[in-house]
Order: sequence, then C-alpha cells, then structure tokens
Amino acid sequence: MRHVWVNGVLAGESEAVVSVFDHGLTVGDGVFETVKVLEGVPFALERHLERLVVSARGLGLPEPDIDAVRDAIRHTLAAQPDRDEDLRLRITYTGGVAPLGSDRGGADPTLVVAAAALPRRGPTAAVVTVPWPRNERGALAGLKTTSYAENVVALGYATTRGGDEALCADTTGRLCEGTGSNVVLEVDGRLVTPTLVTGCLAGVTRALVIEWCDVVEADVPLAALQATTEMFLTSTTRDVQPVHAVDGRQLDAPGPLTGAAMRSFAAAMARNR
Ligand SMILES: Cc1ncc(COP(=O)(O)O)c(C=O)c1O
Repeated sequence: MRHVWVNGVLAGESEAVVSVFDHGLTVGDGVFETVKVLEGVPFALERHLERLVVSARGLGLPEPDIDAVRDAIRHTLAAQPDRDEDLRLRITYTGGVAPLGSDRGGADPTLVVAAAALPRRGPTAAVVTVPWPRNERGALAGLKTTSYAENVVALGYATTRGGDEALCADTTGRLCEGTGSNVVLEVDGRLVTPTLVTGCLAGVTRALVIEWCDVVEADVPLAALQATTEMFLTSTTRDVQPVHAVDGRQLDAPGPLTGAAMRSFAAAMARNR
C-alpha cells in the first residue's frame, strides 16, 4: 500500500485524513508541486521547493518550513512499496482549517506529501486552443495553486475535441501555456516560449529547456500557432513532448528543431540526475 504524509503523520493512503474544513478543500487556498522521482531520487527538487515558497508567498500563506518538507519527502519516499518505481510526488500546502468562507482561520497550514506512479505520456500530443484566457494580471498569475478548476474545464474542452492538452492565450491575446505544461514553438526558424509576462507558470522544465536547448523567450500572438511548423510541450511529467496536431492541423512531430531540443534535454538530464 502507498503511504501519504499528512502534517507529520504517515498513513496508508485510504486512512490519511485532512479536515473537511481545510481551506485547500473548501476554497482552493493552497499551493502545490509535482516532482518527478526517478529510481528513488527526486529530480530538480531544489527548483520545485523554491517555487513552492514563491507560490506560498504569493498567496500570503505562512512561509513553508522547507526542511520539514524535505523530511516529509524523505519519509514518504521511504514508505513507498517499490523503491525503484518512477513516481510523481505531490507536495500540497494549504491554509489549513478555516471558517467556511474566504477568510483564513488562525490554524497551522496543512502539509500533504503523496506519491503515485509517474503517468505514461504518449510520445506526441495533440493540442486544442480554448476560448478562455489566462488572467496575467490576476492575483494568482504565475503561482502554482490548488485553484486549478479553470484548468480542469479547459482540459475537458480539449479532450472532448480530441486533444491531449489545452492551450490558452492571456487577456491581450498572447500565447500563454497549457493546463499543466508550457509551450515552445517555431517562429521564424527559432524555438520560442512565451515570457512570464503572459502569466504562464515559471515551469521547471521550461527553465531547463531555456538553459539546455536552443530556446528563447518571446511573446507571440495565439495566431502564431496557425503558422508554426513545429512545437512541443514541456512539463515535469512530459519532459519535451512533441506536438503532432494543433487545432486539428497536423505537424511534423518531432520536427528538426524539436528533435534537437529533445536530444539536448535528454543528454543534460542524464548529466544532472
Ligand atoms: C499551469 C502549468 N503550466 C506549466 C507547468 C509545467 O511546469 P513544470 O515544468 O514545472 O512541471 C505546469 C505543471 O504542472 C502547470 O500546472
């Protein structure tokens, strides 16, 4: 049985409990991280922990005790049934028990660390653009919060249209990101990814792709998707995933620039594990 860490206690996943008054549950007042664990070793953990702190600060939650989070991760991984299984580790940090409204209570935050099998992604993905913008000026812009219902709706829209991921623009019409991924596309022969000004998440994989591959930050209109010759998604659970269709238009997947990025990413990742 898998074990889950809840506020300092490890419990079997069917016994682990969080209060029904937890502000993460009642109003989505929480932040989270998804970390890839390969052969028992978390990948890019420091970057994820830094982003957890940034997200918590952005929500005005008490600063997470990162040593306590590290400890929780260590205990949770040690309690998994198969130490060699590749995992998706989820760290969730919420406002804790609170009144049934938007106001926070004075309770301590809730920390949950859980693990599940790393999802198997297809070798390529189809993406569908959605009619709802990401609000780059909103209070939650760029934060990894548990208020993800907009992403749930967007992904549902894409999957009912044959997509594996949804892509959105920001409120000014610039290409932004996916529901659980950043996007990289060919523009004038170069690979570009939207800047953080669009309100996209500062993806850990996005940052690594900028560092390790020939990818630059630039903002482009959503319509650039109609002209691009190739593109890919980046995320912790996808790494670099070529896109074979955008709104039903077929693309070379991987195209030559994407193929080169995949090779550079894989080589650098092997060196940095
Ligand atoms: C909205 C959003 N954008 C981008 C990403 C990709 O970020 P990372 O590479 O850190 O997994 C995620 C991750 O789940 C996400 O939720």
